[in-house]
Amino acid sequence: MTAFKNILIFAIFLVALNKKVTSQGTTYIVPEDTTTPPPLQPSTVQPSTVQPSTVQPSSAQPPSPSANPLGLDRECACTIEKIWLDIVAVIDTSKSITQEGLAQVQANLDTIVHRLNISSTIGYNSRISIVSFASNSTTVAGFNAFNSSDDFDATIFGISVNAADDKVNILSGLQTANSILGSSSDFPNRRRVVILYTSAYDNGGFKSPIPLSQQMREDNVKLITVAFAQSMGSSDVDAVSELAWPGFAFTNNQTDLIDQMYNALCQANCFCPPNWRQFTSNYTNKYAHGYGNCLYYSSIPAGWTPASFSCRNEAPGAYLGTETTPMKSAFNLAYTKDVSVNKQYSYHIGLEFKNGQYSWQTNNASVVLPVCFCF
Ligand SMILES: *[C@@H]1O[C@H](CO)[C@@H](O)[C@H](O)[C@H]1NC(C)=O
Ligand SMILES: *[C@@H]1O[C@H](CO)[C@@H](O)[C@H](O)[C@H]1NC(C)=O
Ligand SMILES: *[C@@H]1O[C@H](CO)[C@@H](O)[C@H](O)[C@H]1NC(C)=O
Ligand SMILES: *[C@@H]1O[C@H](CO)[C@@H](O)[C@H](O)[C@H]1NC(C)=O
Ligand SMILES: *[C@@H]1O[C@H](CO)[C@@H](O)[C@H](O)[C@H]1NC(C)=O
Ligand SMILES: *[C@@H]1O[C@H](CO)[C@@H](O)[C@H](O)[C@H]1NC(C)=O
Repeated sequence: MTAFKNILIFAIFLVALNKKVTSQGTTYIVPEDTTTPPPLQPSTVQPSTVQPSTVQPSSAQPPSPSANPLGLDRECACTIEKIWLDIVAVIDTSKSITQEGLAQVQANLDTIVHRLNISSTIGYNSRISIVSFASNSTTVAGFNAFNSSDDFDATIFGISVNAADDKVNILSGLQTANSILGSSSDFPNRRRVVILYTSAYDNGGFKSPIPLSQQMREDNVKLITVAFAQSMGSSDVDAVSELAWPGFAFTNNQTDLIDQMYNALCQANCFCPPNWRQFTSNYTNKYAHGYGNCLYYSSIPAGWTPASFSCRNEAPGAYLGTETTPMKSAFNLAYTKDVSVNKQYSYHIGLEFKNGQYSWQTNNASVVLPVCFCF
């Protein structure tokens, strides 16, 4: 009964929009395949290498708390070979990590790096750099040091524990990483990641790394923390998670560490082209979970049918937006309110009555029945 009523609400809304040929309604669209764009270079630097990307379906999808059964609003694709990030690994080499601990860090990082496409160039590849730290930090290798993941092996396994230094100065390590990463305006379409491996937190009375970690977060640097507990049950180091980008804090003893780190890298790598807005679990929360859909708000008033055609021309695979969950509906509304010039909160959605039934537009010809929900 409730379900039927809600379909009716949709229908009335849609028919009303359809009848008004010069409707003031606005359009937003969802090209399913435009997340993870290529790492565009600033236009002054080799514009000829800018190409459209093809995002491939993922074999390693992160678990989704709110996966849409229709697959219309989807998780970001996670094709590890197509991750294009600037990554700085910040590695604790103090006495307290121990030789065994450091060997685990080396194996973990080398495993991660071997599936990435590593080069020192700004292109369809990741760049990686290594910083080690104890009471002070050192750049072991800059971005220009590695042109392949094989180059990485000798350097990462060449790092040893500093047995004379038992202090853990995380702030110093992050400062060095930050200066290697540079500013977000250097390469606006490359995303920046720091992976911090540490055996201790707040050790040695150094200045707190919290303000710097907050500044990095504001600056959109994704900080992954990997806490190395010396013995099961000693959990002091776990507090380092407060430095991490939300959801990006891990510990050395979790069995899915590698998968979780790849998922974090894929999330960091999933973003929309300029002027498109990524669908996330919460419009106002910068750190909300991002999905593999990009929205575009078109402010030209149009009837539903013209809007629907216009939308398809906006980008390959684009179609009028779906609202198959309350979360998506709330996001669309918040987005429209935010960007509409005249504060008109109406817009077209991709629900249509065709061949005797309701369906959502998709990027292919399939008919998908709408899911009903209460407003
Ligand atoms: C790996 O990176 C190089 C250099 O940027 C690029 O030419 C190549 O296409 C990339 N390979 C893949 C599979 O993306
Ligand atoms: C850390 O290195 C800097 C620069 O090399 C130096 O000025 C400083 O004294 C060092 N600090 C410690 C505690 O060794
Ligand atoms: C990596 O390639 C770049 C560009 O070809 C070159 O300038 C650099 O010296 C190379 N680095 C290494 C470590 O081979
Ligand atoms: C991992 O270590 C932490 C302490 O750092 C502990 O709280 C947690 O229970 C451990 N997890 C497993 C699966 O052993
Ligand atoms: C969305 O995020 C904002 C800012 O963090 C928060 O205040 C709000 O409660 C969140 N909304 C929901 C529905 O979780
Ligand atoms: C069309 O899209 C729907 C929903 O995204 C998907 O389930 C279906 O497999 C797609 N069909 C083809 C032929 O790609």
